[in-house]
Amino acid sequence: MSKRTPMIEMRHVSKHFGSVIALSDISMAVCSGEVMCLLGDNGAGKSTLIKTLSGVHRPTDGQMLLNGEEVSFKSPAYALDAGIATVFQDLAMIPLMSITRNFFMGREPTTGWGLFKRIDWKRADRIAMQEMSKIGIDVRDPSQPVGTLSGGERQCVAIARAVYFGAKVLILDEPTSALGVKQASVVLRYIAKARADGLAVIFITHNVHHAYPVADAFTLLKRGGSLGSFRKEDISREEVLNMMAGGAELESLDAELAEFQHTDQEDQRSARPEAAPQNQASSV
Ligand SMILES: Nc1ncnc2c1ncn2[C@@H]1O[C@H](COP(=O)(O)OP(=O)(O)OP(=O)(O)O)[C@@H](O)[C@H]1O
Ligand SMILES: [Mg+2]
Repeated sequence: MSKRTPMIEMRHVSKHFGSVIALSDISMAVCSGEVMCLLGDNGAGKSTLIKTLSGVHRPTDGQMLLNGEEVSFKSPAYALDAGIATVFQDLAMIPLMSITRNFFMGREPTTGWGLFKRIDWKRADRIAMQEMSKIGIDVRDPSQPVGTLSGGERQCVAIARAVYFGAKVLILDEPTSALGVKQASVVLRYIAKARADGLAVIFITHNVHHAYPVADAFTLLKRGGSLGSFRKEDISREEVLNMMAGGAELESLDAELAEFQHTDQEDQRSARPEAAPQNQASSV
């Protein structure tokens, strides 16, 4: 691992929900300009980990550090103020509100002073359009409800917002899982851009084709514990696949299918015993 001070770090973090141990003694670190991909089966604790980092949950034990300083967040708003922006797959946007309102979420630019202070909608619309066009999405009308955008475009509004407001850490929980190839590639390109801009990115995905090209390192969770972090140069695409949710099942499914095929061939052969000598004869 690099010797720079990590932008975001967890040291021996645990999270219990009553008797459920969702996270146990997790240590991991991500530097600015790096993408860390979080892997693990369903229920491994990935979402709990990022919710703990982003202030939704308080850790039961352990420390979290932002740029070398210990932090503790009372709520996601505190984490956001500190520079940790999280794109939750389900609650990233308010569908009935406009693109501009979703982009600013209460931090709209204002004009005038004192009693005459009001939101500068013209400027807000212009900024929202500019920031979206920077990532290649042309918004025709920034007052159109976010619900009318495609899934990929919606994810991009959330990411563009995080970058615009100066996030240092960008956390994405399965941003590409419901997207088609083209839209997923837009989101992936934007993740690469966020890394190039110096953000530390934590990215959860179940798709090896999405994880491998953009990640610099991988952390594997299993039943709430960490099996370690791996630099990309030390791990192959196949190994990453096996670490992903369902990777192990895919492998055993392959083995089962091979077994089916095998027994299927046997069944076919035993169903046509008289055909075998003929075949043999004709092949000589
Ligand atoms: N608020 C909660 N109360 C009780 N248990 C919880 C809570 N949140 C998560 N858990 C438990 O913690 C474990 C880890 O859940 P988590 O959602 O973090 O998994 P995950 O790795 O994100 O899985 P998936 O890939 O399916 O999204 C699960 O066993 C889950 O039931
Ligand atoms: Mg999850």
